[in-house]
Amino acid sequence: SNPSLLILPGDGIGPEVMAEVRKIIDWYGAKRDLAFDVSEDLVGGCAYDKHGTPLHDDTMAKAQEVDAVLLGAVGGPKYDTLDFSVKPERGLLRLRKEMDLYANLRPAQCFDALADFSSLKKHVVAGLDIMIIRELTSGVYFGEPRGIFKEGNERVGINTQRYTESEIERVARSGFEMARKRGNKLCSMEKANVMESGVLWREVVQRIGDTEYPDVELSHMYADAGAMQLTRWPKQFDVIVTDNLFGDLLSDLAAMLTGSLGMLPSASLGAPMANGRPKALYEPVHGSAPDIAGQGKANPIACILSFAMALRYSFDKGDEATRLEKAVEKVLADGYRTADLLGEEGRSPVSTSQMGDAVIAALDAS
Ligand code: NAI
Ligand code: MG
Repeated sequence: SNPSLLILPGDGIGPEVMAEVRKIIDWYGAKRDLAFDVSEDLVGGCAYDKHGTPLHDDTMAKAQEVDAVLLGAVGGPKYDTLDFSVKPERGLLRLRKEMDLYANLRPAQCFDALADFSSLKKHVVAGLDIMIIRELTSGVYFGEPRGIFKEGNERVGINTQRYTESEIERVARSGFEMARKRGNKLCSMEKANVMESGVLWREVVQRIGDTEYPDVELSHMYADAGAMQLTRWPKQFDVIVTDNLFGDLLSDLAAMLTGSLGMLPSASLGAPMANGRPKALYEPVHGSAPDIAGQGKANPIACILSFAMALRYSFDKGDEATRLEKAVEKVLADGYRTADLLGEEGRSPVSTSQMGDAVIAALDAS
């Protein structure tokens, strides 16, 4: 049977960018004999409007069954005053938590046509293609004790950085597996010089490397030095694996080496399912962009590249993922720009659907 895909367009520009991905999915079915069983459902504010909850139990159950979930974006001003328990973001958080998506993949890839967009010099970023894997379900954002407590006559704010060996092992394996699919090189980042969790992190990653992935070239770096190296010469890296907090910072930093928010895909992976595929959720990094929603201005490339990641990491179709990425590269080289990619230039932008159609045309020519 065909691989299955659950599509959750969400709110704001989510449905607009997802409509372009639907065209591309249809193209693969018609032209590459690569058909998916696609179902579509609600998440976020639109789910709240219909069901009074940002993620219905039936949708959650579907997400657990399919081979991959593709999500647009959630949220918007209309929902800002809702109670925390039913906020649109809670739908996304529930998906990540119940699917136990512990490895967050954030590629930073520089398309030559956009190298001028980087905050760094062109030769530093041209051809850049790195992958940051951030641990997503543990660490200082979740560790107990946490809270604001009274201590003597003042208050103290507490968070706890906490990692178990098994939590480190599983995300380390995600890092090594990714390295094997790419340049066979992994750099692990922590601060073992000042943090106990960092000492354990380094030791466990080294052991997993020695025992299970001796073929992968492993290095370690302190996260602060990593931040420096990422801006000095990012092309020295291929795959980076790091914890939740450092990964949050480093992936945002790396993302901006390459340009607009409208270009950035992501994936969150969990444990392998019975069929060997990891539980997986693919989504653009950007949000629902209420300031441009409903105007046909959104850049669909982040969502399109998220689908390319699904082809590569859930469906073992690396060649087809590359085909799609090359098609995106071609439309950019040909000068197609949505408004977010134009900056101060006096050119007129293409619309969301014109960008999608251009990618289809490039696929046709591939
Ligand atoms: P945002 O990512 O929605 O927008 C930030 C800026 O980038 C805006 O000026 C927007 O127009 C622009 N932008 C974003 N994506 C774009 C695209 N594809 N093409 C062209 N321009 C694009 O972040 P913001 O404004 O902080 O949040 C807006 C809403 O989205 C909030 O309700 C927030 O909670 C939610 N959000 C949802 C996320 C998700 O679903 N994963 C992630 C981040 C925010
Ligand atoms: Mg962040």
